[in-house]
Amino acid sequence: MLLVDFLREVLKLTGTHVGCDTSNCGACTVIMNGRSMKSCTWLAVAADGQEILTIEGLAQDEKLHPIQEAFWENHGLQCGYCTPGMVLSAFYLLSKIPQPTEFEIRRGISGNICRCTGYQGIVDSIGKVPEKVETKDPGS
Ligand code: FES
Ligand code: FES
Repeated sequence: MLLVDFLREVLKLTGTHVGCDTSNCGACTVIMNGRSMKSCTWLAVAADGQEILTIEGLAQDEKLHPIQEAFWENHGLQCGYCTPGMVLSAFYLLSKIPQPTEFEIRRGISGNICRCTGYQGIVDSIGKVPEKVETKDPGS
């Protein structure tokens, strides 16, 4: 069983999406041990004992994470299918580069495909996160 199927079908964490099953689209992106990865590329058993963050774990105390807020406020999504993967790729990017340039943002989400082609809104949203978090670490 693939990790993405385990998350969705066994744990019922359906925020992680399946767009291709061939490691191309990034809809299945999760954070494993602090690094973004495509959960359709791993067997669930290989992830046993690893620390995994899915989109369900991002909001805290019923408050959206700053990245989620930025997507909300800056039209970072259309249908929303790619959004969990985009948000988690942004989470990883911002944990490594707290104030990324547009080029770094585009490179950071280059493994994620949006079928609505809403890339400009996504890039703008991620670019607004540093202002929102100010001194707060977006990776925390
Ligand atoms: S479902 Fe994993 S990359 Fe598309
Ligand atoms: S918002 Fe529809 S796939 Fe990206």
